[in-house]
Amino acid sequence: MIKDVTRFVPPYILSRCAYSPGYQPANHKDLIKLNTNENPFPPSPTVSDAVQNEISNLHLYPEPYSQKLRDLIASKHSLSEEQVIIGNGSDDLLNLCVRAFADTNRMVGMLEPSYSLYPTLTSLQRSKVSKVEFLNDEFKLPVEEITKSGVNLFFLTNPHAPSGRYFDQESVFSIASEINAILVVDEAYADFSIENSIPLLDKANNLVITRTLSKSYSLAGSRVGFAISSPEIISILDSVREVYNLDRMSQAAAFAALSDVHYFEDCRRKILEEREKAYTFFTQLGWRTIESHANFILTEPINATGQVGKKSASSLFNYLEKNNIHVRYFHNHRLTESKIRISIGTERQMNALYQTINKWCNEES
Ligand SMILES: Cc1ncc(COP(=O)(O)O)c(C=O)c1O
Repeated sequence: MIKDVTRFVPPYILSRCAYSPGYQPANHKDLIKLNTNENPFPPSPTVSDAVQNEISNLHLYPEPYSQKLRDLIASKHSLSEEQVIIGNGSDDLLNLCVRAFADTNRMVGMLEPSYSLYPTLTSLQRSKVSKVEFLNDEFKLPVEEITKSGVNLFFLTNPHAPSGRYFDQESVFSIASEINAILVVDEAYADFSIENSIPLLDKANNLVITRTLSKSYSLAGSRVGFAISSPEIISILDSVREVYNLDRMSQAAAFAALSDVHYFEDCRRKILEEREKAYTFFTQLGWRTIESHANFILTEPINATGQVGKKSASSLFNYLEKNNIHVRYFHNHRLTESKIRISIGTERQMNALYQTINKWCNEES
């Protein structure tokens, strides 16, 4: 027997930090899960039949290009199918971008705070990360700092997570045209926003837009995302992709979900209505709350003695957890340590949340 197998592991693998996902309970039915920005509604009813029909084909490998999905997404967005690639969640596509455009000499840039998977992926390429801080605590976009960051690949999360802030297309375009790098606009939450970067594709050939079906299409459990860009960049990403990156059932589920426009619009409308109500609730409590363009909201709790800060945010986080309501608290950055992030749930879930928060406001000090 070999004593210490870790001596076979390259030091850069041993020293990196693995991604730490939000809490995923074994049984979500007994709690209110508002911690990882899933859609509170199940997928379109058409998904069930589509997946069922695919079961008898599971002895065969899936179609390696997810071609039907590429065609459908291309036609939805008036693009050519050569501009689309499908991923095992958008995480897969973010990973392909890092694989294709980063190495020891090619740095990766990101906003800090933003999606903490970016540095995790980057460390696998032995690439360095440049974290660009916001200009103020209202998450003002540091356009110039981004364009001058000297990286080879930059991840711009828009709408931004965890703030929900939306960066206008003029700013995105000025970054795309000024930066000497590939610009990935991570649009995981774009379906909840007023605008997106797709119109910029014609004007910026260094732009990659990533999207997910995890949020607006209720398919987080199926792991489907897509990226759109120039045919040239898509073929580079395809060349580093796992061959069968999307299984048969996920391809079928995604096709059905994307085709049911009516259901998609209905769920989106309900989420936007609840987001509006959440914003009103928190602002009426006097809590500093960012106007969100995503399916979550970031707010700064004030406790019973009128205090804001780390203590208040962690107190509310723990209080909600004790009451079986799971939200997210990012304690490790000064812009988020006094705030909590809440995914937008159903009306019933949100009302239960408000009741519990009202109790906390009166009880906790
Ligand atoms: C900004 C951002 N990008 C990408 C993702 C990953 O999405 P997917 O489920 O498609 O991998 C998330 C998930 O929460 C996210 O917040």
